[in-house]
Amino acid sequence: MAYETIIVEIEEGIASITLNRSEVLNALNDKVFNELEEAATKLAADNAVRVVIITGGEKVFAAGADISQMASSTAVDVATGEKPSLRAFKAIENMPKPVIASISGFALGGGCELTLVADVRIAADNAQFGLPEIKLGILPGAGGTQRLPRLIGIGRAKELIFSGCFIAADEALRIGLVNKVVPADQLAAETQKMAKRFAVQGAVALRLAKSAVNEGLRMDLEAGLEYEHKCFSLLFATEDQKEGMKAFMEKRPAKFLGK
Ligand code: HXC
Repeated sequence: MAYETIIVEIEEGIASITLNRSEVLNALNDKVFNELEEAATKLAADNAVRVVIITGGEKVFAAGADISQMASSTAVDVATGEKPSLRAFKAIENMPKPVIASISGFALGGGCELTLVADVRIAADNAQFGLPEIKLGILPGAGGTQRLPRLIGIGRAKELIFSGCFIAADEALRIGLVNKVVPADQLAAETQKMAKRFAVQGAVALRLAKSAVNEGLRMDLEAGLEYEHKCFSLLFATEDQKEGMKAFMEKRPAKFLGK
């Protein structure tokens, strides 16, 4: 898959999408969002891809939406124009397989919001997170005001949104913004390790587990529990359920086929 602003590679069922605009700290313009949407849609449909990693490379994750592109926008442009950022983020969030954000350096504004549409976040110890939009006279408009409070709680999210301050990786870990912090030179290897732990599981079970969590969060608890039960029941129709339980009884690792 050839793109201008991202690099997509697939190896042994693990796909990685690397943002590739290092000259502007991987600032996210419409081209990036369109390419992210296209890549996410393709990787979602490719059954050989089990897990997707999104990264910015070794130095920076992304310093936000491209300010030079936004600077001259009018309210009418923003309100009525295409919404490539929202379409891209939806495509990533809805991918029916685990998505890992692997973060080194700055993850700011839209870059931080991009990490929030991944299922899990693993950060290098040099990572810095923040939503500095308030300092530009705007607010986090790519899901930051909605997804961040759901992830880390309302008070902590508001502090980040109202102050625009950056926090370091250890603080991000403490407040639950990231799952794990690792030394910067081990980020790629640790991300692969996590991806492999997901990739060996049954693809249908992963898909339905992700759906149960994501869809459940949009429902009240009773409806969510009902939805979880439907997903759970459905898995008893898969060969992977038979294999998983048989393997347990035979005291051997399961070999899932994704069906
Ligand atoms: C466009 C950007 C950029 C951005 C950095 N650059 N961030 N260009 N949009 N978001 C460019 C700089 O202009 C500069 O280009 C080059 O990248 C290197 O950046 P420096 O500022 O020289 O680097 P440094 O001094 O190390 O400072 C790093 C930084 C700072 C602290 C991350 O760049 C910064 O504050 N960036 C903006 C962060 C931000 O406000 N993000 C939120 C954006 S709004 P030149 O050509 O000068 O070398 C947003 C809204 C989301 O994300 C809503 C989505 C729809």
